[in-house]
Amino acid sequence: MNKQNPLSKSGSLLERAAQIYDYVPSKTSGSVPNYGPEILPPEESAEQSVPVLAPREASYDGPRVIVDRDKLREAGFVLPDGPVTALSEEFRIIKRQLLFTAQQPHVRHGERILICSAHPNEGKTFCALNLALSIAAEKDNEVLLVDADFAKPSILSSLGLEGSKGLMDVLADPEISVEDCIIHTDIPGLAILPAGEQTNADTEYLASSRTREVLNRLTSNKPKRIVIFDSPPALSASLASVLATHAGQVMMVVKADKTTETALRDALGLLAGCDNIQLVLNGTKFSPTGRNFGSYYGFGSQS
Ligand SMILES: Nc1ncnc2c1ncn2[C@@H]1O[C@H](COP(=O)(O)OP(=O)(O)O)[C@@H](O)[C@H]1O
Ligand SMILES: [Mg+2]
Repeated sequence: MNKQNPLSKSGSLLERAAQIYDYVPSKTSGSVPNYGPEILPPEESAEQSVPVLAPREASYDGPRVIVDRDKLREAGFVLPDGPVTALSEEFRIIKRQLLFTAQQPHVRHGERILICSAHPNEGKTFCALNLALSIAAEKDNEVLLVDADFAKPSILSSLGLEGSKGLMDVLADPEISVEDCIIHTDIPGLAILPAGEQTNADTEYLASSRTREVLNRLTSNKPKRIVIFDSPPALSASLASVLATHAGQVMMVVKADKTTETALRDALGLLAGCDNIQLVLNGTKFSPTGRNFGSYYGFGSQS
């Protein structure tokens, strides 16, 4: 498929992104992103070609931790039972495309989505958690949000939860079972796998064959589960590029007016281990069609 490459044309990064992120009216569902001539709008294509899924299974009936809703609200996250906002709608649009790709038979491990960016503070955790909350609200899916930013884990604190063992502990110690580290929350469909203790050999552990086995366990007998990884920044360490080889999709967060084209190009090069990379433009009031969001998210493809 010849996807449009937002970096292959002349003009500024934002101008070129705008060509990809332009919104076009849809007959059935308000506004959806224009993915170019060869990519169907996700809502329509998902409805037409994806088999109807069985309802979410109630496979877990153990204890659940209570998420601090006030903390989420204060940090600007989209609450599961909150009002419909421009932000929640934008994440719905993003979610549709990711879920559509996750169900394509030719996409290996499409249910594993890595949320990355070139540098810190460009919105990875903001997007990963909002996306997880949005997908958790789906009746047909459940979400496991993995904090994979081992040097700067922030998923637990964002949810007001206590630290506990996590992915790196499991990779470092075969005696620890990954299932035992998963925290089930009182938000239906949302579970968390904490980062665990950082080590000096994070990259080596991640590149080991045990990682493959552990990640496979996360979705074995869980056909409805989407696994979202809150990644380290691509340009800060080699971890993100290793994680990308395990993911079926990468959502690359581009911070408007901050991420430079050079940084984006370098980061995309490092994430080339994954075939499906999508760009999200985070935090700008710029809208090519005049739509004016508090924070505008565009969504486009990268090849
Ligand atoms: N679109 C946005 N709207 C409001 N706040 C945002 C947005 N994107 C990021 N932030 C805030 O910016 C800060 C850095 O974002 P964060 O997701 O933690 O970055 P990263 O995980 O890439 O280091 C956080 O306080 C986050 O809540
Ligand atoms: Mg973060």
